[in-house]
Amino acid sequence: MKNPFDLTGKVAVITGSSRGIGKASAELFASLGAKVVVSSRKADACQAVVDGIKANGGDAHVIPCNISRRDEVEALIDGTVKHYGPIDILVCNAAVNPYYGPLLDIADEAFDKIMGSNVKSNIWLCAKAIPAMAERGKGSVVIISSIGGLRGSTVIGAYGISKAADFALCRSLAGEWGPKGVRVNCIAPGLVKTDFAKALWEDEANLKRRTATTPLRRIGEPHEIAGAVAYLGSDSSTFMTGQTIVIDGGVTTASV
Ligand SMILES: NC(=O)c1ccc[n+]([C@@H]2O[C@H](COP(=O)([O-])OP(=O)(O)OC[C@H]3O[C@@H](n4cnc5c(N)ncnc54)[C@H](OP(=O)(O)O)[C@@H]3O)[C@@H](O)[C@H]2O)c1
Repeated sequence: MKNPFDLTGKVAVITGSSRGIGKASAELFASLGAKVVVSSRKADACQAVVDGIKANGGDAHVIPCNISRRDEVEALIDGTVKHYGPIDILVCNAAVNPYYGPLLDIADEAFDKIMGSNVKSNIWLCAKAIPAMAERGKGSVVIISSIGGLRGSTVIGAYGISKAADFALCRSLAGEWGPKGVRVNCIAPGLVKTDFAKALWEDEANLKRRTATTPLRRIGEPHEIAGAVAYLGSDSSTFMTGQTIVIDGGVTTASV
């Protein structure tokens, strides 16, 4: 029986894949047979991921891209098509959070940066990639959102607004492009042990508080998100669009 999560021959591009959830996804995609474009702002960090994938027999290629710059986002999509051919899977994974504090104190520049990088850049990526997917009648877009978009926060409220906007973006694109065979879904991770969330899990007291209200009593690891990214990219999920998979150790379901 064929592996239902097989990605053989599929072309995938993953933003922010030099480390964390994006890297774990790139490695899993390659091990499932995909040709993967690894991308972030730093080419050398991406190259190390590509070297690791190739050492394990996979196929990967580096295209650096800062998601906050439209010309670089468009060059990422164009460069992927030029190197590997038409894109089957787009993973909008990179995001930023330059502000930690009360929502009403946020400076305009920080708010605009969060919305620009976490929402507008996903529109740029999709605008460039989805029409070509629609012409071929197939394609899967996966947006890495956050449980921060599902509930309030007293310290990362603006980030939560951007991640809630990603859910809305996903639903609307699913409706617009579903008739042409393109699927758009979100994943909402809870706290995962990556550099991005270091401030949250390095703080012993915060970690203890957090895990005490998490049914699985721990935070996640990047590979525990990557499996769902691969599922959404694979033909196992061909009847799924406009939805969000929450992977958070149960924290958003728990009674406290
Ligand atoms: N970790 C968590 O607890 C958690 C929870 C919920 C949701 N998420 C979401 O998961 C996604 C991935 O986060 P992560 O935790 O895996 O973070 P991470 O380990 O810090 O990795 C972030 C990746 O994004 C890249 N990046 C950062 N700014 C970028 C920019 N402006 N343009 C392009 N690439 C950029 C980084 O590489 P360079 O520095 O080389 O650019 C790196 O490859 C994000 O959307 C985040 O919001 C994370």
